[in-house]
Amino acid sequence: MADYLIAPSILSADFARLGEEVEAVLAAGADVVHFDVMDNHFVPNLTIGPMVCKALRDYGITAPIDVHLMVQPVDRMIADFADAGASIITFHPEASTHIDRSLQMIKDAGCQAGLVFNPATPLHYLDYVMDKLDVILLMSVNPGFGGQSFIPSTLEKLRAVRERIDGSGRSIRLEVDGGIKVDNIAEVAAAGADMFVAGSAIFNQPDYQQVIQAMRAELAS
Ligand code: DX5
Ligand code: ZN
Repeated sequence: MADYLIAPSILSADFARLGEEVEAVLAAGADVVHFDVMDNHFVPNLTIGPMVCKALRDYGITAPIDVHLMVQPVDRMIADFADAGASIITFHPEASTHIDRSLQMIKDAGCQAGLVFNPATPLHYLDYVMDKLDVILLMSVNPGFGGQSFIPSTLEKLRAVRERIDGSGRSIRLEVDGGIKVDNIAEVAAAGADMFVAGSAIFNQPDYQQVIQAMRAELAS
């Protein structure tokens, strides 16, 4: 069986109790903390920055933190997030003027690097950077908000990226973000994803463990 990772998006957590929320979701069986950074410029919403990432580390969170940058420009945020304890940093290629340089900056800062594709962003951005990627993140909603519905064309795109990853012979995570729920996670895995971001599906339920277990049961089926 593939080694699947479940990454709750803290965008749907209770920010007034963020440390406890992250602890709870990790105790409930999550693998990775998905940390959505929005700048009200690249996307129409404003969220959290490196101070909050550092606060989670200072609180005692040791799990990997997957920082999804929805900001423009990208580069000036990289060192700040690396210093704040980020494990993975991903960004949208449209938001960076020099994609190869941004990826190299992430790696030089000691983090894993990834590119994020909006639903209608073409995959040609992968062409000359596969050797620098640890993660490819496909958005299955248009970024900016939690609680949106999964866009079905993502399945075809996942299959295309899965072929490219397998053809590259490299071990690159294929992450999917947006509208992932217990009732579609198996189909998304069958299309090639192996890392699943879920915000509202987990945090809007009273029992995080029950949702995460139900997701894992679907992935094992
Ligand atoms: C959307 C964010 C997502 C969001 C997912 O721009 O990147 O990570 O929190 O939320 P759900 O799982 O509710 O679609
Ligand atoms: Zn995200």
